[in-house]
Amino acid sequence: MLLTIAFWMLVILITFWILLGPVTRFLRVLWEIIMQIYNKKTIDLRTKFGEWAIVTGSTDGIGKAYAKELAVRNMNLILISRNLEKLERTKDEILLINPKIEVKVIAADFAEGENAFTKIHPLLQDISVGILVNNVGKQYEYPMYVGEVPEKELWDIINVNVGATTLMTRLVIGQMQKRKQGAIVNVSSGSEFQPLPLMTVYAATKAYVKSFSDALRAEYSRFGITIQHLSPLFVNTKMNAFSSRLQVSSIFVPDATTYARNAIATLGKMDSSTGYWAHSIQKFVTLMPPVWIRTKIGQIMNESFRQEYFKEKQQKA
Ligand SMILES: NC(=O)c1ccc[n+]([C@@H]2O[C@H](COP(=O)([O-])OP(=O)(O)OC[C@H]3O[C@@H](n4cnc5c(N)ncnc54)[C@H](OP(=O)(O)O)[C@@H]3O)[C@@H](O)[C@H]2O)c1
Repeated sequence: MLLTIAFWMLVILITFWILLGPVTRFLRVLWEIIMQIYNKKTIDLRTKFGEWAIVTGSTDGIGKAYAKELAVRNMNLILISRNLEKLERTKDEILLINPKIEVKVIAADFAEGENAFTKIHPLLQDISVGILVNNVGKQYEYPMYVGEVPEKELWDIINVNVGATTLMTRLVIGQMQKRKQGAIVNVSSGSEFQPLPLMTVYAATKAYVKSFSDALRAEYSRFGITIQHLSPLFVNTKMNAFSSRLQVSSIFVPDATTYARNAIATLGKMDSSTGYWAHSIQKFVTLMPPVWIRTKIGQIMNESFRQEYFKEKQQKA
């Protein structure tokens, strides 16, 4: 009798442990969806985090749209991208939205690794950074097998996705710690959810961004610093130019403005989110099957994008 009770207790305990992970994960995503749909209270970012925000990769796509949203919220801005002309144009567009803020630009190429930081570091010396948005990111030109990706492109992806996020954080975290105030927003990607064949290195760098963000939060939240990790799914930007299907905006593939407007509304409220309610619904469904099935589905999806890319290239030739 006692042995039977002990046996069933053990079965219940093991079942509980097995289910704890998936159930917590689903509840978290459910919470993510509900929060984004119902919680519309805005936070005064300038008061909560400080007056200046840096956005890396801010002349196109999500970074540019996010910078505009920060401008609407009266944040002074430092825009960092490669091209000075595009930076000046973006600055002008932003000042039209809010002429009362200050906007500085820094032309630097994060693919250059350490060299980029010798340019950036002196220009940030006297600035008290309230928000750092580690947005800059690089993807393959189209879905490829690792052996096909040019060596230079692999270095660039690692330097931009991993290097820029890590070293930009290192650059500002000390002053935030001293002030006991600040936010770092790391833009990762839904490709971090599981390994993603044909975007293997890109997805692996985004898994780094997630791990980096979670550990960083554990280290620095006690100093009053917010570390937010965003994992958008597809957004209609030039990064996805390999697929004409992804160049059409829809509920599930929003334009950069829609994405940024939703994402910024989660800052200071959620540590980790897709940043956009419809992406959180997709995430909920995506996380249901086991990792091996998701990896297979990802591979099939990318094979289809790859075929589409070759077909369109052939038609254009
Ligand atoms: N779009 C999506 O579907 C999607 C989905 C998930 C996650 N994400 C992530 O979201 C972030 C933004 O993506 P996006 O789609 O907005 O990209 P995007 O449209 O390609 O814009 C990239 C921005 O980064 C700048 N940039 C590119 N390489 C740079 C470098 N080496 N040094 C400095 N600046 C550089 C570009 O400006 P210049 O060319 O003028 O330098 C541009 O302003 C990335 O981290 C990406 O991984 C995007």
